[in-house]
Amino acid sequence: MEFTVKKKEHLYEKKTLIVGVFKEDTSYNETILEMDRQMDGSLMDMIKDKDIRSDSKKVSTIHTLGKLPIKRIYFVGLGYKDQYSVDIAREAFGRVCQKVQGDGHQEVSVVLDTFIQSEIDEVKIAQLLGEAATLSTYRIVHYKKSETGEEVSNLKKVQVDTNGEHKAISANIKVGSLYGTGANKARTLVNMPGNILTPTKMAEEAISIAQQYGLQYDILEKDQMESLGMGALLAVNKGSEEPPKMIILKYQGKKNWEDVIALVGKGITFDTGGYSLKSKDSIVEMKTDMGGAASVLGAMEIIAQIKPEQNVLAVIPSTDNMISGGAMKPDDVITSMSGKTIEVLNTDAEGRLALADGITYAKQNGAKYIIDVATLTGGVVVALGNETTGTMTNDQELLQSVEKASENCGEPIWQLPIPPKHKERVCKSKVADLNNSPGRDGHAIFAAAFLQEFVEKTPWVHLDIAGTAMKKQADDLGPSGATGVMSRTLANFIENFSE
Ligand code: BES
Ligand code: MN
Ligand code: ZN
Repeated sequence: MEFTVKKKEHLYEKKTLIVGVFKEDTSYNETILEMDRQMDGSLMDMIKDKDIRSDSKKVSTIHTLGKLPIKRIYFVGLGYKDQYSVDIAREAFGRVCQKVQGDGHQEVSVVLDTFIQSEIDEVKIAQLLGEAATLSTYRIVHYKKSETGEEVSNLKKVQVDTNGEHKAISANIKVGSLYGTGANKARTLVNMPGNILTPTKMAEEAISIAQQYGLQYDILEKDQMESLGMGALLAVNKGSEEPPKMIILKYQGKKNWEDVIALVGKGITFDTGGYSLKSKDSIVEMKTDMGGAASVLGAMEIIAQIKPEQNVLAVIPSTDNMISGGAMKPDDVITSMSGKTIEVLNTDAEGRLALADGITYAKQNGAKYIIDVATLTGGVVVALGNETTGTMTNDQELLQSVEKASENCGEPIWQLPIPPKHKERVCKSKVADLNNSPGRDGHAIFAAAFLQEFVEKTPWVHLDIAGTAMKKQADDLGPSGATGVMSRTLANFIENFSE
């Protein structure tokens, strides 16, 4: 999608225009008033008669019937000015861009200052537009032989008409669109089926991001994992025909490799459950079990382009979780990279095994802070549903920074506790240091308590996106399927982090 910024005087050369309209506004925007004059007062009439709706996110399309050089105007309601927020603005842009694209228009102009309010200026709103336009018009990559049914047309050009500061506005639209594109990359990876997005393919995707945006990378192969002692990740891979990959990306924004923030993403490309086999219903959609890895890759793509002054280490342990004569079994005892031994009580609690070695690798490679992201437990879906990502931490201050980023991006997170009793039960085993599945009572918490044994004292935030990585229904910011959740939050956290 291409974005351009033009002076407002060029407004009238447009075919399709987007205008925001607040509810019961006492001081209508000069552009709206000017258009109203040219239309002999009919715009104001339409607003009064509710032919043009001002309720939050309602879209009304009018044809100007030759009264203006503009052919049609998409009005999008913004609700009451004093209830307006960044989230409403983002979703309103998303909704109207989807409508414009759905109606088959490939170019549109936005009257930017019809979307501002005392606390949200044009520079800020520009970023939200860039982000929302990119996210909302995302389409799923599919494998159909031919397009069936109606033709698809994409919104390709978004022009912004404004008398504001063009340089700052252009820069911010760009930042917004980078955020959107990074999240869309994550969506595409998650939507890919497990036979296509194998660990090998995911490694190739990571290398291509690294090469395109100038990141350092390293892909650890099975023999390297063996010599590094990554017995937990290797145990998950034992039943698979596909070789495992430990995918490493490095972004260095500081002179020296210090104060490293590690982003560790669960990269299970398909989760059958292993011998603790999933049911025929719950196994469907387990291609999404690399959602954490996708969030991290999407975030790295954003970070590599906005170039914050930070050092970031992305670590993605990747394999599928399969069954065969050689597969890991319940009762097996495995030795993780940390040296800690684990009794496997449930082969379907594989994510924490893969992450354990990812976390240890991160620590051994300079991580001062660790954020992990994973589609880790069905328990978090029961606890928090599909809108809110579960989070647990050993460092409230670090969590606050992640919370701030999640608010900025409209990706809500909610903290669950890690009570000492949960830790005790994770550390209980007759034969090993830990067990991987102490029970189903609050098992989102057991998963976090298990990871904490590998994180130890390093400041850490855990994000369980099992409920939020996918959505069943399309919404204002994209189609049903993968959401790309946490790519933007992670990137925003990195962009704003200070010790
Ligand atoms: N990948 C699943 C978690 C999951 C569930 C992701 C639903 C997305 C949607 C994970 O590996 C898993 O199987 N977790 C088990 C943990 C249990 C064995 C303690 C679960 O949630 O049942
Ligand atoms: Mn599992
Ligand atoms: Zn899993």
